Parts: sequence; structure tokens; C-alpha cells
Amino acid sequence: MDLPSTFDVIFPQALPSTYDNHTVRKLSSMKGQFADQQAYARLLDKEDVVLYEVYEFKRPQEAGELLYGISVVHPGKVGDEYYMTKGHFHAVRETAEVYYCLKGQGVMVMETPEGDWAVEELRPGKVLYVPPCWAHRSVNTGSQEDLVTFFVYPGHAGHDYGTIEQYGFRKLVIEVNGQLQIVDNPRWQAPGERP
Ligand code: PA5
Ligand code: NI
Repeated sequence: MDLPSTFDVIFPQALPSTYDNHTVRKLSSMKGQFADQQAYARLLDKEDVVLYEVYEFKRPQEAGELLYGISVVHPGKVGDEYYMTKGHFHAVRETAEVYYCLKGQGVMVMETPEGDWAVEELRPGKVLYVPPCWAHRSVNTGSQEDLVTFFVYPGHAGHDYGTIEQYGFRKLVIEVNGQLQIVDNPRWQAPGERP
């Protein structure tokens, strides 16, 4: 029998007091995902920096369960493009997700299989509902602080990284003269025009 459980979010870092899994994603695992390939190669040559980390709680991956944890995207840029997560659709497309921003500043980049897109701001206290079928990627647009979010999604959702790996998201989040800009991703193809 499961017993109720709790954990604390320890501020100011906004990290969990306990967790079951800790995933560390480094630059080398994001080959081809940043638009400026030369900037990517130069940075990787210097150091395989940690882009983001995920702390998760282990629960059965089945309907009725909730999977939850804390995601930490570090500050930085590859060329003009802010550090970000890989991003994914859920393997079971009709599953949603909720994010609650605990620290830092950033955005969630989202899109549907039909090519609709949305970008929503994340800042401490902000709750974001990602509806079923929307792919999602967290982007840290701050210059100093980690972007820390709490997330929760259905146990049977699964992850589909393939589509995003191949085409990226429709929109890129970059910095131009110190300002955040949302621009078209040249690698993206409309779903109807994909081979
Ligand atoms: O379930 C989620 O959407 C999050 O837990 C993400 O998995 C987390 O932010 C890391 O992103 P990604 O899975 O795209 O590498
Ligand atoms: Ni998700």
C-alpha cells in the first residue's frame, strides 16, 4: 500500500529536499538542437556544460498515477539562443501537464502537431497549464539565475522526443541587443510538408 508522501522545496535555490532520480543534461546531448551550429561546436570544444537538470519522484508509469518533479534550467546561451530543454510531445498525445514556476525567469515554448504555437512567460508564482497534444520546452531567459519549475503530468503519458529532435520547435527564443526575441526556426517544416 502506498502512503501519502511529501517533500520540501528548499529556498532560495528552490531544490527538492528529497528525490528518487536526478538527470543531468549536458550540451553534448543536444547536438543539432541549437540553431547556431558553429557556436554549439565552439562551446562544446571549450566545455561540455550542464544545460539543465531534472529531479524526479518514482511512481508507476500508468494511468491514475501522477509523475512529478522539479526541473532546473541553468542560465546561458549557445550563440544568441538561450539554454533550453530538449522538449517533447507526450507519447500519449492526449495528456496534459502543469508547471509551477518557483524561481528565475523564462518561457515555455509550445506547439501542436498541426503547427499552432504559443510562448508563455514563466516567473515565480506563475502556473502554466499545457493542454493535451502540446509539445513543450522550457527556456531560461534570465542572465544569472536558474529557471526552476515544478511539473506534474499523468503517469501513462510517456515522452516522444523524435519529432522535436528532427525539426525543432517552430519558434526559437533568442537574445538580440539584450532583448528577448521570438523568431522563426529555419529548420522547421510545416507538418503537411514533411517527408
Ligand atoms: O515532463 C516534463 O515535461 C518535464 O519533466 C521535462 O521532462 C523536463 O523539463 C525536461 O525536459 P525534457 O524532457 O524535454 O528533456
Ligand atoms: Ni512533458
